[in-house]
Amino acid sequence: MDRNLLIGMTEEFVRRNMKGYDSGHDWWHIERVRRLALYINEKEAIGDPFLVEITALLHDTADSKFAGRNMQQGYSLIGDFMDSHEMSEIKDHVLNVIKNISFSNKNNSAMANDPLLWVIQDADRLDAIGAIGIARAFNYGGFRNNRIYNPDSTRPKGGHTRPMPGSASTISHFYEKLLLLKNLMNTDCGKRLAEERHEFLEIFLRQFYKEWEFGD
Ligand code: ADP
Ligand code: NI
Repeated sequence: MDRNLLIGMTEEFVRRNMKGYDSGHDWWHIERVRRLALYINEKEAIGDPFLVEITALLHDTADSKFAGRNMQQGYSLIGDFMDSHEMSEIKDHVLNVIKNISFSNKNNSAMANDPLLWVIQDADRLDAIGAIGIARAFNYGGFRNNRIYNPDSTRPKGGHTRPMPGSASTISHFYEKLLLLKNLMNTDCGKRLAEERHEFLEIFLRQFYKEWEFGD
């Protein structure tokens, strides 16, 4: 089958299976990750753009947070789709990347040497920082009914208050994850793109505390 046709069918499969995800994980997240991944792949001359595009499209389809199914069911869904659309040959590779992409799996080194993983992971991480990353974080926090900030669980540090880990506010998520991503980028291109987005997180936090502490 023609590759463009396969990409179109994969897009349709992803749209159908991501209904009910929060808007930080919707089709547009997939679209942004696809663009970033193709860009990084080209700049770094890493591999087959078709493989990159298919993996980017499918990377969140199995996410158990939203789909009302467990991860294994999600992986089977993707595997069955690939088998029935002439993609059995790349199925294992794509599924391995999808299983290892998550921030929470960052200690899993079994796949650390796969350039396809580097590209997709960098693209996914870039979409979690910068202005869009901030929008996604507060959207996700709202979806989970978390507070934007919890001043009760702060401690003084360097003249400012900062959230304690586990205080379940979206601001605390910055310290648990978002601010760490810049140093976890795999590719030079990803690192370069992360700089500006990371800086924007810091600018945002400075302004946030300035407004929060107004009058202090
Ligand atoms: P990963 O697949 O890398 O584990 P997640 O699916 O947990 O990432 O997160 C995806 C998006 O949701 C990111 O933009 C992330 O910052 C945001 N997010 C995840 N957990 C939280 C949280 N507790 N508060 C706010 N945003 C969150
Ligand atoms: Ni993602």
